[in-house]
Formats: sequence, C-alpha cells, structure tokens
Amino acid sequence: MAQLWGGRFEGTINELAWSFNASISFDARFLEVDVRGSKAHAMMLAKQGIISDSEKDGIVAGLDSILSDVQSGKLQITDKYEDIHSFLEANLIDRIGDAGKKVHTGRSRNDQVALDMRLYARDEVVEMSEHLKNMLTALLTMMKDNLDTYMPGFTHLQKAQPVTLAHHLGAYFEMFKRDLLRMKDIYERMNYCPLGAGALAGTTYPLDREYTAKLLDFYGPTLNSMDSVSDRDYLIEYLAALSTIMMHLSRFSEEIIIWNSNEYRFVEIDDAYSTGSSIMPQKKNPDIAELVRGKTGRVYGDLMSLLTTMKGIPLAYNKDMQEDKEAAFDAMDNVKNCLALFTDMLRTLKFNKEQMERSAMMGFTNATDAADYLVNKGMPFRDAHSVIGRLVLYCIDKKCAIDDLDLKELKGFSDLFENDIFDAISLKTCVEKRLTIGAPSSAAMSKVIGAGEEFLQNFNIK
Ligand code: ARG
Repeated sequence: MAQLWGGRFEGTINELAWSFNASISFDARFLEVDVRGSKAHAMMLAKQGIISDSEKDGIVAGLDSILSDVQSGKLQITDKYEDIHSFLEANLIDRIGDAGKKVHTGRSRNDQVALDMRLYARDEVVEMSEHLKNMLTALLTMMKDNLDTYMPGFTHLQKAQPVTLAHHLGAYFEMFKRDLLRMKDIYERMNYCPLGAGALAGTTYPLDREYTAKLLDFYGPTLNSMDSVSDRDYLIEYLAALSTIMMHLSRFSEEIIIWNSNEYRFVEIDDAYSTGSSIMPQKKNPDIAELVRGKTGRVYGDLMSLLTTMKGIPLAYNKDMQEDKEAAFDAMDNVKNCLALFTDMLRTLKFNKEQMERSAMMGFTNATDAADYLVNKGMPFRDAHSVIGRLVLYCIDKKCAIDDLDLKELKGFSDLFENDIFDAISLKTCVEKRLTIGAPSSAAMSKVIGAGEEFLQNFNIK
C-alpha cells in the first residue's frame, strides 16, 4: 500500500477497506490525461514562480518518462497504489527526488480527478463524433444509390405507403445528425478547466488558472471552485446523448432484424456480421444487430447509475463521485463499439431490391394515391376514401392488388376511373409525385442529400 495521506494516521487501513476504496483498477486509463494535466500544472507553477524552472523541467521529463515506460510495458501500474494520481506522484518522486514532491502544490486530487475526467471525456466526445460522421457518410452513400429502390413504408408495422430505401435510410441520417449536433453542444458546455479549484475552495498560491486552461486547450477556467470539483453534469449530458444514440441504433437494429427475417427477406447480412447455430445448420442469425439492441439497456443503466449517484450528494466533493468512472467508461466503450460495428455491417448489407419492391406492390400501399386520383377527378376525399376502401375489400377477396384489376372492374366502383389510373397508382408515380421537401421523391431526396453533404463538409466539433 502506497498512499498519499499517511501522516495523520496511527493505525493501518483494513485490507478490504483499502481495496474497496481504491480506484486504480479503473482509473488507470487516466494515465495519459493525468500526465497532460500535471505537466500543465507544473508549467503554470513555474511561470508563477511557485516552483523553479529546473524543478518544472524535472517534473515534465519525469512524467513523460513514466508515461512512455508504462506504454512500452517497462513499468506496471499495480494495485499497490490507491489511484492513478498516487501511482504517478510516487513514481515521479522515485525518479526525480524532491522536485517530484512539489507537483501537488496548490492542487487537490479533487480538482485533479475533475480535470482528468473532463480531458478524457472531451477526447471521447471528439472520437464519438468521428464515429457518427462515418455512420452519416455511409448512410449518404447508400441513399444516393437507392433513390429509386421502392419499398413499403410502415405505420403500426403495417404497410402504409410506398417510399424508397433512400428515404427510409434518410430518416436515420436525420437522427444521427442530431446526435452529432448534441456532441457539439456537450463539447461547448464542458470545455472549461476545473484545475485550480483545489479541494473545494481554491488555494492561497497565486495560480494562473487562465494559463493552465489555455495550455490544456479549454475556453477558460470554471468559475466556482465548489462546483468545479463536484460537477458531473457534462457526463450526465454525455451519457444521455449516448443513450439517445443507442436508442437510434436499437431501432435500426430492430428493423435490420425484421428485414432479415425469413418472412421479409429484404436484406442479407454479410457473413462477417452474422453467426450460425450450433444445432440448426440452416441458420444465419443477425447477432450483431441483436447485441446492439441488447446493449442499449446497459447504456441506459449507466446513465441511471450516474444520475442516482449524484442525486443526494451535498457540496462539494464526496467519494460517491468515484462511482462516475465505471459507468461512464462502460457507456463510452460500448457506444463506440456499437457505432463502428453497426456502420460496417450496414456498409456490407445486401438489399434484395426485387423483394422490397414486390412487398411494396402488395399490401395496398397505393390506396391513398387511388383515393387522391378520384379526388383529382372531382370526388370529395371522404367519398373517395370509402370507394377505395370497398375496392380494397374486393381485392382482398380476389387475392390481388388494385393494379391487377381491369378498367371494367374499376368502373364498377366509380365511373371516374379511366385508363390513366394505372399510371397514377404505379409505385414510381406514388413516390415521384411526393415532391415537398422531406418527402420520398428522388427530386426532394436529392436536395436533402445535397444538404446532408454540405452539413458533413462544414461540421467541426470545435
Ligand atoms: N479516486 C478519486 C475519485 O475518483 C479521486 C479523488 C479522491 N479525492 C479524495 N478526496 N479522496 O473520485
């Protein structure tokens, strides 16, 4: 046991209490950000004349050498240390002697860990936005390729009106676009530096907080030292945004699972992203999509865990907050994996276009357009609705589509039907006549795709 706080204690800590309290098993991943933050702190201390330039140089070189030794495997992070902060300070003192004992001047582990988490989460937000951009790029490519791939659009999981695959995928483009914009919002709100808040009340040393904030690429320092050490709002926002990404991925997964079913056969998942059964030789299962759907619950759980941890904590730092890490890391790791895998699965998905079109032909997806046809010939919409309703019933009985009837049969329902009805209710017409922005026609979709490309080109998280 190598702890930072021996002086005041006469006895030794219970072994179970030590490991219960320790966080090194999970905060070891802060190594790089802790080094980054500690170097900035040392540079500021030297600039302010609190430590000497040579002490600062020793600290910076010492921290760099510890980092590279851990990265190369020369030095192990072990549970002899309570947390990553203790590990670094102890090793620094080992390497550079007394100057190492000065790195913690004007700093507490409370503002140190607050900084580490912010730096770590900020890098993650940037990385997550790259994953989202990859997803959006993949969707745009698929949309461009499928402007005239007809398929049924559904409500209540019942065939409703024809759309195109481009249009259906475009709905997910909008969802992930909002997810990406949320990353930017979060980045902007979180990008303030808590270092210098001390334990809770700042310090008596003449720290230059603007300077450390600048060195670490923050917009500026946080403005209340008690809030600085106990704010985890940005993590909650981030986990809420990650939960929303998972909700979108989960809906998309559900669709892929349905589309991949024997009944639908809209898609075939590439062998690289499906698995077989140990007993049933014919099986090819959509496991990746199912797992993504499954992991959604776990990410929601991480958000709930953090919200619940924070709800009863009086100001300022309390050890409960150590619990933020495992939940946050779990959510970040899983969402990154899910996004990357799902995007690759999507890119390699084969669409059975004939089957999708056949499915759109059946199920009366053109019934609204048939009613609109009568309206255009002068019939009030409510009457047209009723005529087509009876026509559909007739077709169900005959086990055919409206398009399969001949003009004579149609005239039995209304005199207004003429030969142009067949063109008016073809899939192509049904789709291409929907010209308003946001609708599925290739003209409207092309505009939307153009806007999407422009959005992606101009997007910058910083
Ligand atoms: N491991 C701690 C955490 O994650 C670091 C801060 C410790 N602060 C303290 N006052 N014991 O929150």
